Amino acid sequence: MSTVYYGPVINPQSVTDYRALPQCLICVSPQGDIEWIAEDVERANLNDVLAQHDCAPSAITLVCLADREFLMPGLVDTHTHACQVPNMGVGGEMELLPWLDNYTFPTEARFKDVKYAERAYPDVIRRIVNSGTTTCCYYGSLHLEATKVLASLVHDAGQRAFVGKCNMNQNCPPNYIESSVKESVDTTLDLINYIEQLPKSACGEPLLHPILTPRFAISCTEELLARLGEVAQKNPKLAIQTHISENKAEIALVKSLFKTKSYAETYDKFHLLRDNTILAHGVYLTEDEMVLLAKRGSGVSHCPTSNFYLSSGMARVGMLLDHGVKVGLGTDAAGGYSPSILTEIQHASIASKVLAIQAGDKKCKCSGGHSESSGEDDMKQPGQFTNQKLTIAALLFLATLGGAGVCCLQDRIGSFEKKKAFDALLVSVHDDRGNPALWGYNPDRDLTQGVTAQSADKKSLTEWLERFLFCGDDRNIKKVIVQGRTIGGRDYHP
Ligand code: GUN
Ligand code: FE
Repeated sequence: MSTVYYGPVINPQSVTDYRALPQCLICVSPQGDIEWIAEDVERANLNDVLAQHDCAPSAITLVCLADREFLMPGLVDTHTHACQVPNMGVGGEMELLPWLDNYTFPTEARFKDVKYAERAYPDVIRRIVNSGTTTCCYYGSLHLEATKVLASLVHDAGQRAFVGKCNMNQNCPPNYIESSVKESVDTTLDLINYIEQLPKSACGEPLLHPILTPRFAISCTEELLARLGEVAQKNPKLAIQTHISENKAEIALVKSLFKTKSYAETYDKFHLLRDNTILAHGVYLTEDEMVLLAKRGSGVSHCPTSNFYLSSGMARVGMLLDHGVKVGLGTDAAGGYSPSILTEIQHASIASKVLAIQAGDKKCKCSGGHSESSGEDDMKQPGQFTNQKLTIAALLFLATLGGAGVCCLQDRIGSFEKKKAFDALLVSVHDDRGNPALWGYNPDRDLTQGVTAQSADKKSLTEWLERFLFCGDDRNIKKVIVQGRTIGGRDYHP
C-alpha cells in the first residue's frame, strides 16, 4: 500500500534556493520511492487531488501532519568515525597529530575486541540515526571483524550508508597498525565482499555500500596507496574516503613524506581522486588544489565542529563552491563533539561569518593604502560565494542535496522528487517537544505572534525551518525515514 503524506514540506533545490510548501502531498510507493508530489493542495481539495492520482482512500495510508510539523529530506553525514563516538567531547585541547596519538588511536584500538564492538556499535548507530542522519559515511577502525559488525548493524538498522575499514600501515602506534600491505589490502577486499553479499532492501537496491578508506596519506606507505589505487581502478563504482589538508603540521608532514607539491597531488598520483572520492576537511586547500578537485569531480566533507574543536582552521567553503567543487557536511566524531549534522549547520554558519568578517576587515585595510597585503589568493573574489556568509538555503543544501552529491547519490536522495527515494525527517517545532532552546508554539500558552494552529504559511514555515536548524535537536525529530521506512526518531518504538 502506498503512503500519502499531507502537510508542510521543505524541499531543497540548489545552493541558493529551497521551496517552502505549506500544503504539500507526497505519495510514497510500498518500495519507498516517491510516486508523485502535488504542491499546493487546500484541505478542501484533498480528496479530489487523491482521486486525480487514482488513489482511493481505502488503497492508501494517509498521514496528515499535526500542528507545527513539517517534512524535510533526511540529513547526510559525509564523514564520521563510528569507532570514535565513545570519545566525543574529550581531547579538544590538542591539535590533530598529538590528538590522534593520545586520544584517538587508543579509543579505536579497543575495537580489536569484537565483543566490545558488538556492545558499542548498536548504541553509536542509534544515536546517529536519531539525530536525523538518513545517509552516513562511516569509518570503522582498522579491524576487519569489528567493521563487519558495524556494517551488519547499519544494514539491520535500515540506514543508507557507506562503511569502510581504515587502511593504516605506518606512523601509528605498535598496538594499532596493520602489519603489512598485504594484510591491509586483503582485509579491505574481504570487507567489500562481505558488504556486497548482504541482502538488498525492499526496493531492490542496496542501501549499504562499501567504501575504500585509506585513513590519510600519513598513515599509508606509498606501496599501500599504490595498491589501493589499483583496487579503485578495478572497481570504478567503489567509493573512496580519506582526509585532506586539515591541519598545518599534517600538511607539512605529507609533503615531506611523499615529496609532492600538494596534498591533493599526493592522492592524485595514486589514482585516488575521482568523482566518488570524499575528502574530509580541506581547510588549507589552495586554489590550484581546488581546480584539481573540480576537474576530478571529487567532493569535500566540511567538518566545521571538528575544525574548531581541534583548532584546525576554517575551510573556505564559498571558494570551493565557486571552483565547482562538491561540498557536504560531516560530523567527524570525535574530532567533532556531536553526532548531529544540525551542529555542523550551526558551525558552518559561524565559520562562514568569521571568514566574511575577516575578509571585510582586510578589504578596509587594503583600501586604506596597504597595497602590499593584497597579494593573498582570498582577496581575488573569484565568484559569488567566496568570503560570503552561507545563507539558510546554502546551509540546508550542504546538509542534504550537497551531501548527496558528494556521495554521488544526488539522483536518489537529498530532495523530494518523483522517482527519488523517500528519505525524510518528520520534524516538530511544537513546544511539547521539551527542547528549551526552541521557542515553539503552544496553544495553551500562546506567546508567539501571528500564526495560529493549523495555519502554516510560507513565511511561518521558513521560520520553523530556521529555528529547527539553529535551535533544534533530536527531541524535535519525531520520525527518521529511509527508503519509505521509519527507522528512528523520538516517536519510533519498534
Ligand atoms: N586524520 C587522520 N585520521 C583522522 C581522524 O580520525 N580524525 C580527524 N579529524 N582527522 C584525521
Ligand atoms: Fe575524520
